[in-house]
Amino acid sequence: MKKEFKLVTLLLVVMMFATMLAACGSSKKIEIGIVLPTKDETRWIQDEERFKAALEDSKYNTEILFSQGSSAKEKENVDALIAKGIKVLIICPFDGDAAAAAVEAAKKAGIKVISYDRLITKTDAVDYYVTFDSVNVGKAQAQYLVDHAKGNGQPLYLYAGAATDNNAFLFFQGAWEVLQPKIADGTFKVANSSEAIALQDVATLDREQMSKIIGQVTTNWDPNEAKNKAQTHLTAAAADGKGDVAILGPNDGTSRSIADVFATDGDITSYVISGQDAEKATIQYIIDGKQSMTVLKDVRVLVKDAMDMAVGILDGKTPATTGTYNNGEVDVKAKQTDVISVDKTNVKEAMVDSGYYEAKEFTGL
Ligand code: BGC
Repeated sequence: MKKEFKLVTLLLVVMMFATMLAACGSSKKIEIGIVLPTKDETRWIQDEERFKAALEDSKYNTEILFSQGSSAKEKENVDALIAKGIKVLIICPFDGDAAAAAVEAAKKAGIKVISYDRLITKTDAVDYYVTFDSVNVGKAQAQYLVDHAKGNGQPLYLYAGAATDNNAFLFFQGAWEVLQPKIADGTFKVANSSEAIALQDVATLDREQMSKIIGQVTTNWDPNEAKNKAQTHLTAAAADGKGDVAILGPNDGTSRSIADVFATDGDITSYVISGQDAEKATIQYIIDGKQSMTVLKDVRVLVKDAMDMAVGILDGKTPATTGTYNNGEVDVKAKQTDVISVDKTNVKEAMVDSGYYEAKEFTGL
């Protein structure tokens, strides 16, 4: 009897401690909240990993939440972080326009908002923007296709990101700037977009014109959608749309699946395809000759910039910026980072010797 009593008391004490600990955990003060758009686009897993590494020795408490590709979930995440008392919000929106409501709630609560990688649009509730030079990403992709062009009237397949992502426009803007003169002079012939053909004499597209093309060739950043579109395009292509082709692949996830489709078409002799993000799977594809290039956006730098900015704000300093981006409502002060073009010729140096990835993660390097 006595022994049982002791055991019950012990159990009760343990349970009490567990409840206390759980309560402590949930009411822990968080100073910096980080919200990332989705785990389905592998780019953001890179960011999560790099944030975790950077947070290890931060003096401030942080929490990272994912929005699973849903603006409603994103708003819930932001509200939860506001309730936890954050002072700075680092947020990469799933949908740039839709995220306005979430950051407006944060602003109301006195929180400083840093838009991360993707700009939150049509609101004045964004204080800062940390980003890569996205126009240059598009230019680098296009320049690669131009540098490897195979002469007259080469079929050019265009693909783009999601229209809900402001970056998709910046990438396309940069790419078009470089490709358009080469379409106009007959080096390339657009093979999969009647809207692009209708606009092929326009050197600089406005947003509405870009929307028309992107509407036709969007992948929505989804590798499956990219694959289906590529299949449809190749099925519809005439003989002069095959042979040696150039492909504007928007990002590594979608570019790999587009490349796979082109690689299995017997009438495609060769293809050159761009990408971006320097994902591990793509680095292997580049080594294997299945994807031509990628654009390295060193996520370590972006994470560091965002964290330095957040810590600076918490320490009462004014963050250093390099320019501004208009988000349709205000000019947002921005810190911008440059990008690097990577292909077979510099893949080892840029991706492994630089310490970004380890050699053992790849075969045939
Ligand atoms: C990012 C890219 C990424 C894409 C899809 C863009 O906003 O800048 O790096 O590949 O979203 O997640």
